[in-house]
Amino acid sequence: MKDWLKKIKASLSLQELEDIRVDLLGKKGVLTQQFAKMKTIPNEQKKEFAQNLNKQKSDINQEIENQKTILMAQALQKELEATKIDVTKFTPDSATAAYHPVMDTMDKIIRYFQNLNFAVEDGPLVEDDFHNFEALNLPAYHPARDMQDTFYCKDSMVLRTHTSPVQIRTMQNSKPPIRMIAPGTVFRKDFDITHTPMFHQIEGLVVEKDGVVSFANLKFVMEEFLTYMFGDVDVRFRPSFFPFTEPSAEVDISCIFCNGKGCRVCSHTGWLEVLGCGIVDKNVFDAVEYKNVSGYAFGLGIERFAMLIHKIGDLRSLFESDIRLLGQFR
Ligand code: DAH
Repeated sequence: MKDWLKKIKASLSLQELEDIRVDLLGKKGVLTQQFAKMKTIPNEQKKEFAQNLNKQKSDINQEIENQKTILMAQALQKELEATKIDVTKFTPDSATAAYHPVMDTMDKIIRYFQNLNFAVEDGPLVEDDFHNFEALNLPAYHPARDMQDTFYCKDSMVLRTHTSPVQIRTMQNSKPPIRMIAPGTVFRKDFDITHTPMFHQIEGLVVEKDGVVSFANLKFVMEEFLTYMFGDVDVRFRPSFFPFTEPSAEVDISCIFCNGKGCRVCSHTGWLEVLGCGIVDKNVFDAVEYKNVSGYAFGLGIERFAMLIHKIGDLRSLFESDIRLLGQFR
């Protein structure tokens, strides 16, 4: 028996330990066979024989359990060592760290509009009612406020639900002509495969003195921009509604997954909606006291662009901080 205990202690793997257990306690195991001998033992010796065997069995089980614990700890240690990351160590890999696809897409869009002489503007994430709603022709109780699931803070402040308030701030702080984009974080109370409570938008605004800005200007710039982002796609303007623009349009590109033939991603329509835009509503100019001007505006979700460009299926994967996602974008 001592030899068996030694053998157990010396076992180097869980498999080896299991083999020993079977040799001893399996159907044809050494100890199992001893138990089978019980029948042949004279009655007066049975008790002692049984006690002895049971003791051996329990010693062996005990030893197997001990050894199992040790081997499992060793296996874990090995695994930990194999997957250990020293975050302080410089490796050649550090030089090829990846840009997050959302930031990468944001940069690409910013660069495009900077080349057209658009300034990049910024605004607060915690916004007041006037800038987020009122000045954008969304007065209190306007039904269109329901389009945006707002996070409310104290004192009628909100987490901005879009980047459009930066339009208002920019117009308040400068004079026409204006050409600006405003990239940034926005917040809405929404969470499913296509919505996260925090996401990113880019807003665009062009304002000129007098009535020189037309829908044709807007259409041209959007078509050029979308061709730059998505390559050779068809672009379609669909009449729509936004409180801050009139007329308004939603813009679709032909589906980049099926070339417009119809597939699951485009819900078999052949088209993918990518942005909203329109001619700035007069009420918006009134709110910032601009007179005799004309302009167009547009707004888009950066995650949507990133997902289409990189063919990412689930929006939430962009925010799970799984380093393997980034690894794919080296
Ligand atoms: N603010 C809109 C939204 O969050 C996007 C938008 C649409 C912005 C049309 C615009 C615009 O400037 O003209 O859904």
